[in-house]
Amino acid sequence: MELYENIFKRKSTKAFQMDSLDEDSLRRVEEILKTAPNLFEGMKVTYGLLREGKEFSEKATGILGAYTRVKAPHFLILTMEPKPGFRQATGYSLAHVVLALNDLGIATCITYPGADKEVLQKYLEIPEEEVPVLFVAFGNPQNPAELYPPLDYYKRRGLSDIIIQGPVKRKYKPLFEAVRLAPSSFNTQPWRFSVDGNKVHVARVKLGFVKNKLFSSLNKIDMGIALAYLLIAIKAKNFKFNLIKEEFSHPEMEYMITVEILEEPRRP
Ligand SMILES: Cc1cc2nc3c(=O)[nH]c(=O)nc-3n(C[C@H](O)[C@H](O)[C@H](O)COP(=O)(O)O)c2cc1C
Repeated sequence: MELYENIFKRKSTKAFQMDSLDEDSLRRVEEILKTAPNLFEGMKVTYGLLREGKEFSEKATGILGAYTRVKAPHFLILTMEPKPGFRQATGYSLAHVVLALNDLGIATCITYPGADKEVLQKYLEIPEEEVPVLFVAFGNPQNPAELYPPLDYYKRRGLSDIIIQGPVKRKYKPLFEAVRLAPSSFNTQPWRFSVDGNKVHVARVKLGFVKNKLFSSLNKIDMGIALAYLLIAIKAKNFKFNLIKEEFSHPEMEYMITVEILEEPRRP
């Protein structure tokens, strides 16, 4: 399975067929969840699989806001202990799962969990110390052709927008072409990259007071997704990397992490 290739052929599906996926496909989904990677050791994302999503999405529509309203035959409910960095960690793990599902030909839509823990507990057991972070609606798309994006689908910022400092070596360009396509809440694409030789400082656009209240939690998840896309691309291009913390500051950015790309390509 090639997660990297799926970066270029994944889109959100908003209209699902309400029939269940076949048992074999659901078993494969469970396998993917078991091996989903985690960003930090000791901070594991819990994936609850809601097989009977139909009833849940019908009930949930009253609770969830208009944006979160997606009806699907199945849902993943992602929960986690709310330790520092848990939203980024959820986004990181989730990005791998969503790309792997896409590889199986299963459509997904990441949605914000507009329902609180008490409501969710009617459908699923949630560990006491964990909180709901995200839902992923999944199943077959109503229109099979809608699984993959048409050529002009991605409405994303260009490299000159997201790379705030360069230059970027030619061999690193494909890494940013991949990360550029990461999905984000309201397609806000809050990631920016300051490139210094083989170091990529990853940062999030700081929001004003009001927007910060509304969007910062979601944008932290988006940052985890972007980091996953970047690292998936780095691995696909046979580079190695280190994740390090550096002294990076920018008046309009909140620093997340630095990816140090190691020049020596991995031997095949
Ligand atoms: C953290 C997060 C939350 C999202 N929440 C919702 C949601 O509640 N409802 C929805 O319809 N789409 C939601 N999306 C999907 C985005 O709108 C979508 O990924 C973005 O517009 C880019 O489109 P694409 O995924 O088709 O490339 C969410 C995406 C992310 C990453």
